Amino acid sequence: MYNCAIILAAGEGKRMKSSKPKVLHKICGKEMINVVIDVVKKAQINDINVVIGKNAEKVKKATEVKNTSYSFQDKQLGTGHAVICASDFLKNKRGIVAVFTGDSPLIKEDTIKNMLDFHRDGGYGVTILTSIVQNPYGYGRIIRGKNGQVLKIVEHKDCLQEELQVKEINSGMYCFDIESLIESLGKIHNNNAQGEYYLTDVIEILKQEGKKIGALPIPFEETMGVNSRVQLAEAEKIMRNRINKIHMENGVTLIDHNNTYIDLDIQIGKDTIIYPGNVFQGNTVIGENCIFYPNSRIQSSIIKDNVTVENSVVLESTIGENTSVGPFAYIRPETTIGKSVKIGDFVEVKKSTIGDNTKVSHLTYIGDAEVGSKCNFGCGTVVVNYDGKNKNKTLIGNNSFIGCNTNLVSPVKVNDNTYIAAGSTITDEVPEGALAIARARQVNKKSWVYKKGLKK
Ligand code: UD1
Ligand code: MG
Repeated sequence: MYNCAIILAAGEGKRMKSSKPKVLHKICGKEMINVVIDVVKKAQINDINVVIGKNAEKVKKATEVKNTSYSFQDKQLGTGHAVICASDFLKNKRGIVAVFTGDSPLIKEDTIKNMLDFHRDGGYGVTILTSIVQNPYGYGRIIRGKNGQVLKIVEHKDCLQEELQVKEINSGMYCFDIESLIESLGKIHNNNAQGEYYLTDVIEILKQEGKKIGALPIPFEETMGVNSRVQLAEAEKIMRNRINKIHMENGVTLIDHNNTYIDLDIQIGKDTIIYPGNVFQGNTVIGENCIFYPNSRIQSSIIKDNVTVENSVVLESTIGENTSVGPFAYIRPETTIGKSVKIGDFVEVKKSTIGDNTKVSHLTYIGDAEVGSKCNFGCGTVVVNYDGKNKNKTLIGNNSFIGCNTNLVSPVKVNDNTYIAAGSTITDEVPEGALAIARARQVNKKSWVYKKGLKK
């Protein structure tokens, strides 16, 4: 049977107290709306319509790579009204429409598939995903009759005292028979505590028309809605635990899984060990057998096998096999570091390539440079890449030994098999095989201290 989905994302999310639309707040690195779109697609629903309204352009821009269609809700008159705004999307369609909200990002792929099967097999007019919760505050309540049949959903603000005691809540996720939904939406009104057109009122209307109402209870950790920063943190924690568990099941060791922060969609190879305080973001791919000692942030980078990283930041870069980074290194975007390289403490590398087996052990800045293999950088080397106006390039050949406290004033080229004396300020090309010394000769003024009367 044909299926499609509508995702409601037109609301502002006042309770977030944010200048950003609620559905663009991220959970484990991904906007909530994109988390929902991705899981709906994984459940094999490919025709997806997103209802946008408040900050429509921002939401559209953040979701544009997902290839969904959009409906526009000019005024946020309620979830029912939002679905009415998607009427064009539903026009002439027959089959099932699943409805999700952009603020419930914890729903799982298998649960969506189960909902579709349950709905189809049971011949329901509507199927509601529900949960039993200890504290149902704020959620719509599922009101059942004497025989357990669902009668209606009552919003928290409209509940009678006894309805407030009901612990079964509406997840805001449903499957509808498309024709029944369209018909019943024509009958909802806004005669309620919030003066809104509630999608939830459709349930009672369908019931009165003799349609079968299905309710499928699922764990609350999948239905939790995010309306506030506190709920955002709670949802993030649930998602984080799920992600960490999957990596552990795939053979990754997390020394303290409660303090390891891995975004959605990150790949990590087996036998990699991750100590607490590490943050992996964006589309990072990490190889096998790596060790991440505490407190690094790796963003959108490729880390190959057997790499060791400690207390460092790596952004949009590639680190080759057997290389070690840190402690306290800063690898900035567009850097490619080769195999068996050592990037030691207080080393910053920006937009540069560094060849295999090169060592940059301490206190060094390398920017806009191409460095060959088997080089050795002494402590305190500075690539002087900026002349106040332009960023210039530095080329360093293979087997170059850069003495301590060298300045390489760009643009400059250091050829293969060279030595640079410590303390040099290199402004001219260093020819292959040469030793370059670019500093004043030492002068010793004998007995100067005594003559000046400075002896203490
Ligand atoms: C809604 C449900 C409630 C359920 C809860 C689950 C209704 C009336 N209530 O309440 O029964 O327990 O979700 O999380 O449906 N939206 C629009 N246009 C609007 C209003 C809302 O697109 O005019 C969107 C919002 O962007 C949001 C979603 O619909 O993504 C839900 O809206 P929200 O205001 O969060 O509803 P809840 O109060 O959480
Ligand atoms: Mg909500």
